[in-house]
Amino acid sequence: MAFPVQRPRRLRRTESLRRLVRETHLVPEQLVLPLFVRAGTKLRRPIEAMPGVAQTSVDEMLRDAEGAAKAGVGGVLLFGIPEHKDATGTESWADDGAVQRAVRALKQELPDLVVITDVCLCEYTDHGHCGVLVNGDVDNDATLELLAREAVSHARAGADIVAPSDMMDGRVAAIRRALDEGQCTHTPILSYAAKFASVFYGPFREAAESTPRSGDRRGYQMDPSNAREAMREVKLDLDEGADAVMVKPAGPYLDVIARVRRTTLVPLAAYQVSGEFAMIKAAAERGWLDGERAMMESLTAIRRAGADILITYFAIDAALGLR
Ligand code: PBG
Repeated sequence: MAFPVQRPRRLRRTESLRRLVRETHLVPEQLVLPLFVRAGTKLRRPIEAMPGVAQTSVDEMLRDAEGAAKAGVGGVLLFGIPEHKDATGTESWADDGAVQRAVRALKQELPDLVVITDVCLCEYTDHGHCGVLVNGDVDNDATLELLAREAVSHARAGADIVAPSDMMDGRVAAIRRALDEGQCTHTPILSYAAKFASVFYGPFREAAESTPRSGDRRGYQMDPSNAREAMREVKLDLDEGADAVMVKPAGPYLDVIARVRRTTLVPLAAYQVSGEFAMIKAAAERGWLDGERAMMESLTAIRRAGADILITYFAIDAALGLR
């Protein structure tokens, strides 16, 4: 029996009723703030297309992380910008690299904030690809050992979670093996399992100074048309030992998030990437959208689709808004 017996509006009449029947809840602890660290002191270089986001030195990064912790944000995700780039990205596993120093500082100053490190070579290679080049091509198997070195170096510095974002085949197994051999059996791997070759990474490449010099990433990142293949990637990473998986970007891939959620038991992260953030910021700056509400609605949608962990440049603002 439908209308006039059924009137869904009855449960929408007041905020207290709406609160009572709300299906999706977002809490600050589920949010993760990405941070870009580099060498130096008192350094803060704003990123043009990401208002409010900056590359910082470790001392300045600690201030941002402290702000995040105070707001109740659950964790941070670290990206490093090296002083020197080379063909194989050697600085990515340097014990005194920006990320390694940032991890140590964070674990000392803010031990309760979860520290996740992005494991990839693209910021560290002079050609800007996520692996080593052999005859102009990203060589999968030669890259694995380098990624494993980087992950072990992050874990030894004290990272709570390592998160490989390179999309090489077999990297979760290679990293797991290296971590175990390096006495880091307790360090979990959050794999960027379904990472699409997305235009929405545009502003990030300025932030991380990781735009490929030639070509693009379609030879290793996924085709935006493929959802079934995303399920295959997730399965392979889980078989190789991933402790949690990620879908990236988030907003344009809610169907993939929902599908992964339905068929896997591990924690699921989704990354609301730089371009998703930039679009909302740009429209808000022009007065075309209410930025605060667009932020909360976009994050709620990602949570509703099934993500447990939300990686977002809005983390601090959203956490403060939720209080
Ligand atoms: C690669 C990496 C990228 C992002 C996170 N890790 C960029 C890429 O693959 O080009 C994008 C994040 C964002 O856009 O916010 N290490």
